[in-house]
Order: sequence, then C-alpha cells, then structure tokens
Amino acid sequence: MVIKLGVIGYGGMGKWHAKNAPRAGVEIAAVCDIVEERRKEAEAEGYKLYKSAEALLADPNVNTVVLTVPNYLHKEMCLKAAAAGKNVITEKPAAMNVAELDEMEAACKKAGVFLTAHQNRRWDKDMLIVKKAYDEGFLGNIFTIESKLHSGNGYMHEWHIYKKYGGGMIYDWGVHLIDQILFILPGVKITSLYADVKNVLHEEVDDYFKIIMKMSNGITVHIELSTYILEYQPRWLAAGDKGTLIVKSFGCDGNIYRTGQMLEKLPPQITETVAGPTRQFAPIPPGGIVTEPLPEVKSDWVDFYENVSAVLNGKEESKIKITEVRRVLAVMEAVRKSAETGQAVVPGQE
Ligand SMILES: NC(=O)c1ccc[n+]([C@@H]2O[C@H](COP(=O)([O-])OP(=O)(O)OC[C@H]3O[C@@H](n4cnc5c(N)ncnc54)[C@H](O)[C@@H]3O)[C@@H](O)[C@H]2O)c1
Repeated sequence: MVIKLGVIGYGGMGKWHAKNAPRAGVEIAAVCDIVEERRKEAEAEGYKLYKSAEALLADPNVNTVVLTVPNYLHKEMCLKAAAAGKNVITEKPAAMNVAELDEMEAACKKAGVFLTAHQNRRWDKDMLIVKKAYDEGFLGNIFTIESKLHSGNGYMHEWHIYKKYGGGMIYDWGVHLIDQILFILPGVKITSLYADVKNVLHEEVDDYFKIIMKMSNGITVHIELSTYILEYQPRWLAAGDKGTLIVKSFGCDGNIYRTGQMLEKLPPQITETVAGPTRQFAPIPPGGIVTEPLPEVKSDWVDFYENVSAVLNGKEESKIKITEVRRVLAVMEAVRKSAETGQAVVPGQE
C-alpha cells in the first residue's frame, strides 16, 4: 500500500510535509485549509484541494492524514479521521495532555487505523551524537547531559501566543527536548523532576523553562530553553568520567575534550589566579586538555515516512510509539506541576 496523504492545515508544517513526504514515496492526495489564502498557495502547487477537514476525510483516495493544524485541534481532527477510517500522523505535541492522547489512541484502535506522532527531532544529528556517546560509552560513565536551546528571536506569533490554542514553548519545543532525552536514555526512569517555567516576553504563554531530571542510572539531565537569551550556549554538553562532549549547534560543530597526560601527571598545587588561590579551578596549562573531533552520525528524516509506510505494510514496528508519546506528555504535565508547586515531582512513566 502506498501512503496517499491528506494534509490537514496548509500552514508552515503542512507545506513542509507536502513538499518533503514524497521523498519517501508518499503521494500527496489532497490538502485542506479553512483559510482562502492558504488554499490559493496549495492550488499553485497543483494539489487537490478541500475547504474543510470533513470534506478531505470523505475522499476515498486519502488513506492517511497528517494533522498540521494548531495543537488544540489535534484530538478533534484525529477522532474525525479515525471515524473516517484514515491512518493518522499527528504533528507534535500529539495532544494537549495525556487524557486527550488516550482518547485518540482508543478511537484509532477501535477504527483499526494507525496512529503516530511526528517527533521528527529524533533524526537530528546533534542529538544523535550525544546518543552515540551514551550508547558506545566513549565518555566513560556519563554523569550529566545538558540540552539547551537559546534564541534571540524573542517573540512568538499567531496562535502560538495563546494558551487555548496550545501555544507556548513547552508545547512547541519542550515536547522535542524531552522526547530526545528519553530517546537517548531508553529504559531509564526519571526518579525526580524539578522545573521552573517563566513568561519572560509573553503575557499568556511560557517562553523560558529549565527542567532538571534525576535519572535512575545516575545521570542528571538539564534542559533549558529560552526565546530570549542573546548569547547562545552550546546546544549539548555531555560529561563523563573519561571526557566531555560539546555540540555547539544544530550544525554539529563541537569537540570531545579529554585530559592530556600532562594534566594527569601534575601534582596537586595551589595556583594563584586573579580571583585568588585555587587547586581545582586554575586555568589549565597548555597541553593539559586534548580535543578530538565529534563522531560522524548518519541520519535522514525521510526515514520517518519510510517507517510509517513499512508499518502500514506490516513490515516494521513504528519508530514513534504511542507509549513513548504518552510518556513525553506525562513528563510535560509533571513540568507544569513542579513549576506551579515549586516542588520536585516524579512523573508517570509507563
Ligand atoms: N515537527 C516540527 O518540527 C514542527 C515545527 C513547527 C510546527 N509544528 C507543529 O505543526 C502544527 C502546525 O503548526 P504550524 O507552525 O504549521 O502552524 P500554522 O499556523 O503555520 O499552520 C496551521 C494551519 O492550519 C490551518 N487551520 C486552522 N484550523 C483549521 C481547520 N479547522 N481545518 C483546516 N485547517 C485549519 C490554518 O489556517 C493554518 O494554515 C502544530 O501542531 C505545531 O506544533 C511541528
């Protein structure tokens, strides 16, 4: 079976799916949007067009839909699509909360259709480098992982700035950053989570969060996002007892740092610095730290749709399982709870 995709919502991501999914052999069967200007844009690309999701869902040629509408509409659209017998790929966040996702999953199960979420940042090379370090152990025992995303772009726009539409950065990027950590550390539980969430520039929705998670294997995870930290910090830091890895940006620039022999042989000594005497925190002498290039990783996002296609043809398991999607939503709920109460919490993990 070939995926004959109906794109519900032809905004930023709707256009992106329509343009890129065909790389995996997907046919774009139809597109819909309630806004005329968007429909004109779709028409210019030659897509079969509908004015509403309901009309698109009645098209027998569409066997799968991708939900690229604002977050608050994912559940409603999913239930309609399932009732129409279509497989569902929902954009992230799959739902506004765990309860909504459970309804979506139940409806898809009842209708005998497939449900997955477009957690596309599992294919990001910057993250996969950190995953490789964890899987292969070349940093020794990792004790901390920091995932940071800072931007000077400041303001969000349109529906993203309203709570009722599912705006805010926890929904927008928190879902990716949490999913990536759980993907890097499969089978590892969160024993404790503390979060701080702020509205720095936006009245209604969050635009800063810091999440600290203590993991059952001893790793401490720090996730920090801000739309308004103006000097970028490295996207990733992973530190183990055999080295430190820094990935500076999505572009995968960075290094592995290890102690050179010279530093290991230095006897403990007091060093005078401009800030006073210190043993551990003096500047490291030349040659004390050696750098290595980051490992190469291979990844192509097209694998997402190839996997969906293989699942629908009974050849593979889904790479984005609803159990994983549910766990991420549960962690997002724990983030809000911790931020509201000021207390550390233990998220639901199953
Ligand atoms: N995976 C990613 O990398 C990524 C990146 C950006 C956004 N997203 C997600 O994609 C989804 C869409 O975000 P976006 O940035 O494309 O938003 P957008 O505002 O650019 O596009 C949404 C489109 O949906 C249309 N729409 C609204 N209600 C509709 C309805 N009832 N029926 C049909 N069309 C309707 C709007 O007119 C608009 O064209 C969100 O869930 C968002 O979180 C994912």
